[in-house]
Amino acid sequence: AVKTRATFVCQNCGAVTSRWQGRCDACGEWNTIVEENEAGGIGGGPGGASRGRRKGRVAALMPLSGEMEEAPRIVSGLPELDRVTGGGFVRGSALLVGGDPGIGKSTLLMQAAAALARGGHSVVYVSGEEAVAQVRLRAQRLKAADTSVQLMAETNIEDILATLSAQKRPDFVVVDSIQTVWTDIADSAPGTVTQVRAGAQALIRYAKSSGAAVILVGHVTKEGQIAGPRVVEHMVDAVLYFEGEGGHHYRVLRTVKNRFGPTDEIGVFEMGDSGLREVSNPSELFLGERNEKAPGAAVFAGMEGTRPVLVEIQALVAPSTLGTPRRSVLGWDQPRLAMVLAVLEAHCGVRLGQHDVYLNVAGGYRISEPAADLAVAAALVSSLSGKALPGDSVYFGEISLSGAVRPVAHAGARLKEAEKLGFRSAVMPAGSADLPKSREAGVHEMETLAHLVATVAG
Ligand code: TYD
Ligand code: MG
Repeated sequence: AVKTRATFVCQNCGAVTSRWQGRCDACGEWNTIVEENEAGGIGGGPGGASRGRRKGRVAALMPLSGEMEEAPRIVSGLPELDRVTGGGFVRGSALLVGGDPGIGKSTLLMQAAAALARGGHSVVYVSGEEAVAQVRLRAQRLKAADTSVQLMAETNIEDILATLSAQKRPDFVVVDSIQTVWTDIADSAPGTVTQVRAGAQALIRYAKSSGAAVILVGHVTKEGQIAGPRVVEHMVDAVLYFEGEGGHHYRVLRTVKNRFGPTDEIGVFEMGDSGLREVSNPSELFLGERNEKAPGAAVFAGMEGTRPVLVEIQALVAPSTLGTPRRSVLGWDQPRLAMVLAVLEAHCGVRLGQHDVYLNVAGGYRISEPAADLAVAAALVSSLSGKALPGDSVYFGEISLSGAVRPVAHAGARLKEAEKLGFRSAVMPAGSADLPKSREAGVHEMETLAHLVATVAG
């Protein structure tokens, strides 16, 4: 007898198992596992494979060497976007754009759609979130209304696919959002893990078979019934997140996963009255509101993928009235701050055990590089001592537990960016490779964190 294979899916995290369990192994939640009905699948899903016995077909084996094909790309002409995708959207692939509600995903994708349409591509924008009139209104505001972008306000996946198939093969399809689409085949409500997965599966299959680049928009959701974009992350070819901080106008588009390009690039945009404006020099934006005379501020020369980004790190160190002093971090890693504080105590005689420490990356920007250690330490010591750091200095370098300052990659690129923005000196690890031969900025090499502390507090 041929067994039919059932699939069980956790409604919390999207993990798939082959049998029912009371508790999900992946996320540890109870009673979240539900059998997924994929009989027949959507247009022949995994469960819909032929049931009868079939002799395997003999496929051709290939040598490793041989002709290679570059992924065919659709270039938007928006450099900040094309950088993040790795040189344009890839035909026949599916890409997820995730982000908080209201961050600007629909705006970004409408602008991308308009740019592609202007470039002669055929584009379909499927909106399940808003009515056609609303989308038109936004398009007008974005000066995209005069393009050939075609609109569809639909949420049923079978209808969407039928409509797309009736078109002259579109190059670029946006589905906004994946949480609104639903299939006839699954009987759960739109937005549930089952529906989101089934919808994504069908659209991914459509991308592969039609050769269109399909963009799925996903809202990050608070914990609850609605499935977040994480559920489809592992199914798509590339994942981008659109981020920003409340109160700030700039937005960062970040690659989280990319089968066709690098995963550490960012694109920077600024939200204005007529949509998103590309920011080609983010350092200028992040350093915009600097107060050079204030103690506790250090400019970090960071890297985002291939691009240097300068950003101010602000620290406030103040005597604490609490038994356990406060440690508050915005835009950086809490454990990393704890490490820097411990090294300052243990190797540099800087006592912070009775102090509250607040650390903030300016503009609501987020840093993930350990190279920020040195700038963080400089900001902390500057705040504690009440002495402002030289306003024309940048800082970068990783700190080890022994108190040594370790070289980081791309020292040359960091230095060049600093010079370009008028900084006259760099405080950085000793022995950095790839420094430019001719330099305008002075280089202060630090072997140890104690050396930096002596310089700052000195
Ligand atoms: P939107 O793209 O709808 O966000 P998402 O699709 O991620 O939910 O944009 C939401 C916000 O952006 C909205 O509060 C209004 C603002 N906005 C502008 O400031 N300028 C503009 O030109 C547009 C279209 C939106
Ligand atoms: Mg939207």
